[in-house]
Amino acid sequence: MNLSQRLQEFRDDRNLSPEDLAVLVGVKPINIIKWENGTSFPSISLANKLELMGFGKIELTETKQASTPRLTVAKNDHHQLRDGVREDIELNRERYEFDPMPYVVNGPENQLKFFETLYGLQEHNELPCSPELYSRRLSLVANVSDLCEKTAQFDLESPKRDAKHWNPNYGSHGWHRYIGRFPPQLVRALLNHFKARAGDVICDPFSGSGTTLVESRLLGMKAIGIEVCPLSALISRTKSGFPLSTTKLEELSAKVAQFYQRRWSDFVRERELAEISHEEILARSGNSIPAFTNYEKWMSKEALLGSSIIVELATTLDGYNRDFICCALSACMRSIGNLDVDVVRAEYSKKPRQNVAVLKLVQRKLKSMLGDINKMLRTHHDLMSEADDIKVVQNSLLEADIPDGSVDHIITSPPYGIESVSYIRTHLLSYRSLQPVLDYNPYTFDEKIIGSEYVKETNSTVPTWDAASYSPTFVKFFDQEMIDEKSKKFVHRRDMTVNFFDDMVKVAQRFQKWLRPNGRLAFVVGNKRLGEKIIPTDRIITEIFEFFGLRLDRSIEHKLKCNNSNSEVPWQDRIIQEEFVMLFTNTKK
Ligand SMILES: C[S@@+](CC[C@H](N)C(=O)[O-])C[C@H]1O[C@@H](n2cnc3c(N)ncnc32)[C@H](O)[C@@H]1O
Repeated sequence: MNLSQRLQEFRDDRNLSPEDLAVLVGVKPINIIKWENGTSFPSISLANKLELMGFGKIELTETKQASTPRLTVAKNDHHQLRDGVREDIELNRERYEFDPMPYVVNGPENQLKFFETLYGLQEHNELPCSPELYSRRLSLVANVSDLCEKTAQFDLESPKRDAKHWNPNYGSHGWHRYIGRFPPQLVRALLNHFKARAGDVICDPFSGSGTTLVESRLLGMKAIGIEVCPLSALISRTKSGFPLSTTKLEELSAKVAQFYQRRWSDFVRERELAEISHEEILARSGNSIPAFTNYEKWMSKEALLGSSIIVELATTLDGYNRDFICCALSACMRSIGNLDVDVVRAEYSKKPRQNVAVLKLVQRKLKSMLGDINKMLRTHHDLMSEADDIKVVQNSLLEADIPDGSVDHIITSPPYGIESVSYIRTHLLSYRSLQPVLDYNPYTFDEKIIGSEYVKETNSTVPTWDAASYSPTFVKFFDQEMIDEKSKKFVHRRDMTVNFFDDMVKVAQRFQKWLRPNGRLAFVVGNKRLGEKIIPTDRIITEIFEFFGLRLDRSIEHKLKCNNSNSEVPWQDRIIQEEFVMLFTNTKK
């Protein structure tokens, strides 16, 4: 039995919750949860403490000490590679030696199996393009002997030789914080696994911040993203729709300072900002940010005035220029507003932020975004498709008009870790300040949003229980015990879970219709808990999808862990028990 299983058994035997054990060992409950799901290991001293409590022997290999070996990749120095790391890959029935990305070698041992799987997925007897070009597309690979000196991903991601973790923020991926984001390395491996060709149409109907769209663009495919939340749609568009030359964007960025400083001095004139009220800033001619609840608590005067000027500039622009400025401003919001950055739902911090320099923040952001575009253009020049090849539909996928059979492959992930409404609420200040552009009130979310525990709280919609007609596992899980009278909160959560599966029936029908025959689908989903029980989401999804002709080829169980962008979401670990990358084929004509 491995350490995770022994820990759970140890707790069960003594009737201890993770919180109880955490107190006894002197750590936070999240540490116990991480040890139990294998994403982290106790230090030697904590292992000793557990042993003293009667846990039994913990081997050195089960402690933190052993889980982060400090090996480095040296090109053509394969004897240094850790046992088990692959060094060759079969392409067109030929074996080629390659160097893995440094973090595959240096990273935590418990990631190795997943990396191995991703390498295997990218091997083919018949490649979708020349071996030379295909080798440039590979994910998690640094170089391939005889084929390419460096892969495009290696060039763009530029990992350090002693890197222990992959960087999910390469290129435009890191432009905006987004919870529940795909690791781009996974999407790239899936595009290769599906043998996507240049010009193929890839769809992500829950596009979120656009990871699938960016990877499709970088590898030369066409892509359609569908996203119901306006800010997420804007982020998707900006990250994936960048132009093939940055000249015009550089000119625009240079104008930002001029515009800003002129507007600022026209408004403040000889006065001090301290003498000006928040109300006066909102009444400024040119301002289009409307007054919103507690605005003076959310934003200092300089933050409000600065944002108001940037938004004014954005409203004079259109198309990509407008998106570019808005995305930059939104990405800076955590440094502009009085946001409590430790709380995922939007809450204002009790301590107002001082000396907020909006112009400086936005300028810095724009500069790094321009640098990223140039780097993407340089590293992917031989692969990349055009900006026009990427489309983002701002709507619910249940209402999107996608012609039957027009999609080659789908790579997507529904909201399963957090409720969809949280995607809106975590970006509350962006919605507030970009109201003139997004035209959306984050508190009037509607029925269109899938996967929320809040959406329907205010509405009277009851679940249809449609999923019961397609999934025996669904029926078994929501058995009598589940439907017997429980607390109001439990009944609400149960109904929302049932709603989610009812929606998955409609999703499966659409996916099957949109995909061409033999088109592939990657569906990433996690299993949450309902009360004491883990919801068998993967099995229910499989049964529903298979009913509609989407055949499950393979399900890869792996906790993606780094699917979040710039901050940790501690409770994400608690909520999601297991994560699955499920691979399907459309078997219908
Ligand atoms: C797990 S996130 C996707 C994250 C994405 N894979 C990425 O890398 O950024 C799920 C997304 O589905 C969106 N969503 C929820 N209901 C939707 C609907 N009815 N139609 C389209 N998108 C929806 C949410 O707003 C959220 O952005």
